[in-house]
Amino acid sequence: MTATLKLTPTIQMPAVGFGTYLIKPEEAAAAVKTALELGYRHIDTAEVYRNEVGVGEGLRAFLAESGLKRDDVFITTKLWPGNSAWGMTPRTYATTLEAMNTSLANLQLDYVDLYLIHAPFDPDERREQWRAIAELRRQGKARAIGVSNFTGAHIDELVAAGLPKPDANQIELHPWSQKPDLVAYLEANDILPIAYSSLVPLASWRATPGQESAKTAQMRADGAAEASPFRVMAERLGVSEAQVLLRWALQRGYAVLPKSTSAARMAQNLDLFSFALSDADTAAIAEMDRGDGVAWSVGDPTRAR
Ligand SMILES: NC(=O)c1ccc[n+]([C@@H]2O[C@H](COP(=O)([O-])OP(=O)(O)OC[C@H]3O[C@@H](n4cnc5c(N)ncnc54)[C@H](OP(=O)(O)O)[C@@H]3O)[C@@H](O)[C@H]2O)c1
Repeated sequence: MTATLKLTPTIQMPAVGFGTYLIKPEEAAAAVKTALELGYRHIDTAEVYRNEVGVGEGLRAFLAESGLKRDDVFITTKLWPGNSAWGMTPRTYATTLEAMNTSLANLQLDYVDLYLIHAPFDPDERREQWRAIAELRRQGKARAIGVSNFTGAHIDELVAAGLPKPDANQIELHPWSQKPDLVAYLEANDILPIAYSSLVPLASWRATPGQESAKTAQMRADGAAEASPFRVMAERLGVSEAQVLLRWALQRGYAVLPKSTSAARMAQNLDLFSFALSDADTAAIAEMDRGDGVAWSVGDPTRAR
């Protein structure tokens, strides 16, 4: 089983979650069931991934076979906020409440463990979305609540409106996008950083055609190079480059959400507790920051005004 991190004074979150972005709706049930069988106890999905139904099916199949209970598994989903700049209608207070009911119906659950706003798009509406999410926690439909891709300034706006502080902020974090100011803000404000796209530097990251991102040709070449610093560290430690990247995040106190559709990789990505990066390794990685994240093809959404 994996280590846990403090999400709130009363809620612990498994530090290693299973990511499900780009897992096709029809493949999600089997992937989630396999991940749970391998030992994952934390699943990350989102309305916009369109695989909540499969995630719920995989969870139910696993619980029925294992005899474990709903509350043995931590489930996160996310509100798609809409974005008027992209011609999409932003979610209001009322439509946020409805969106949560749809997600719960899709998942066939009474509650999720963590509900997030997926990104900070329209400024007025994100405050109303957050107000609704706080109400959903009050109603017991979400045990904990948070944001994703928000900066400190975005979070300050919510708190200045008299609304609760988020319990977590899910952001793109890996050696090439370290966001030191944002991480310092989160740590100072007792908001748990959840790292996504930890594996960006790997040559195999979203290598299948059609899995768009803003990863550059230079980054692809660097990740594939024989002398990639992660490959050197991995060979010395007797682990894979993916394990080095995930372990780096855990050592910094972040939760991680590796996604894979291969059972062997899922197992590897959970096996992070029998080795450690040295101080020299972490000092070398501290020098590798390249700035913004690349997972979103439109650019890092923390840049939203
Ligand atoms: N809040 C947000 O805006 C946001 C944005 C992006 C992601 N997320 C969440 O974070 C999760 C993880 O991020 P991500 O899906 O972008 O990327 P990721 O988990 O960092 O990397 C996934 C990619 O790496 C490959 N991979 C996985 N394990 C590997 C291993 N051990 N060795 C070599 N290659 C490996 C996968 O290929 P195979 O599948 O072929 O193994 C896939 O191409 C998402 O699934 C989602 O839940 C959230």
